[in-house]
Amino acid sequence: MSPLQGPTQGLFYDLRHVSATVRAAGRVSERKDDIWSIVNAAASQSPFDPMVNLGQGFLAVQGCGRYWQPRFSSDFGRQLDAESEILVTTGANEGFLSAIMAYIEPGDEVVVIEPHFDQFVRNINMAGGIPKFISLKPPSQATSYSTSAADWVLDLDELERIVTNKTRMLILNTPHNPTGKLFSRSEILAIGNFCKAHSMLLLSDEVYFRLSFFDGQDSNAAETRFTHPRTLFPELTLTIGSAGKDFAATGWRVGFVIGSPELLAPVARAHSHICFAAPSAAQEAMATGYELAD
Ligand SMILES: Cc1ncc(COP(=O)(O)O)c(C=O)c1O
Repeated sequence: MSPLQGPTQGLFYDLRHVSATVRAAGRVSERKDDIWSIVNAAASQSPFDPMVNLGQGFLAVQGCGRYWQPRFSSDFGRQLDAESEILVTTGANEGFLSAIMAYIEPGDEVVVIEPHFDQFVRNINMAGGIPKFISLKPPSQATSYSTSAADWVLDLDELERIVTNKTRMLILNTPHNPTGKLFSRSEILAIGNFCKAHSMLLLSDEVYFRLSFFDGQDSNAAETRFTHPRTLFPELTLTIGSAGKDFAATGWRVGFVIGSPELLAPVARAHSHICFAAPSAAQEAMATGYELAD
């Protein structure tokens, strides 16, 4: 894919075949330029910066991802491309909905780990998808004495039993709401390899990751430190984040989705059909917040 086919520019291309194993939903895959696509494409060639559009605003406002790029790049251990790998959304919720709308067709199945944040299921239902539930298993002593959230585990054999050839995606939430569990590196490796084997996308909701604490003295550091699934499985992971959670200001409604250009382009197209762009003033404010936080 050329660099011009980032989430914004990808709006103008046929997105049906994202990769050999992943396809976008029909609702976002047909190539159909609307007036805003054409105007934005023309505006992107403008020699003037910033450009002023008094109509619907520019998708290119997502260029705020540029402010965020250094911050997220250090989280991910490599340089992210602001235009093609970071999509700024109207809160994590809208990023999540965009990802579901981008990939889930009516009848497609999505694995949801219980207990879960309630929006997951509502959004899957809105796309006509079918949630397939699997519960985290509490440790056997959970009723007799205090245990750690880390002791709640996913049973991969059970996961194998509930997945069918219609299962397209698994939703992982780490740090997990409501238990607080941080999925360990080895758990993420197992889940990611499972998704890979079944040609499933991994939609990773990490809105609470800045609330995770890590004890540098821990002898098992690599295992217990927060692991971004995308660092292990970039080819199948879309990461959902929330500037609102990072700054305890969820009412500002700024979130983001991070993924490879190929995976992110259909999400950007869905996002443009849902809300077009996240409010630019809030994006700028959050971008400034990240800069000051550094
Ligand atoms: C797991 C999880 N994901 C996403 C969200 C939504 O985040 P935002 O307010 O950025 O839309 C929440 C909010 O409670 C949440 O708990």
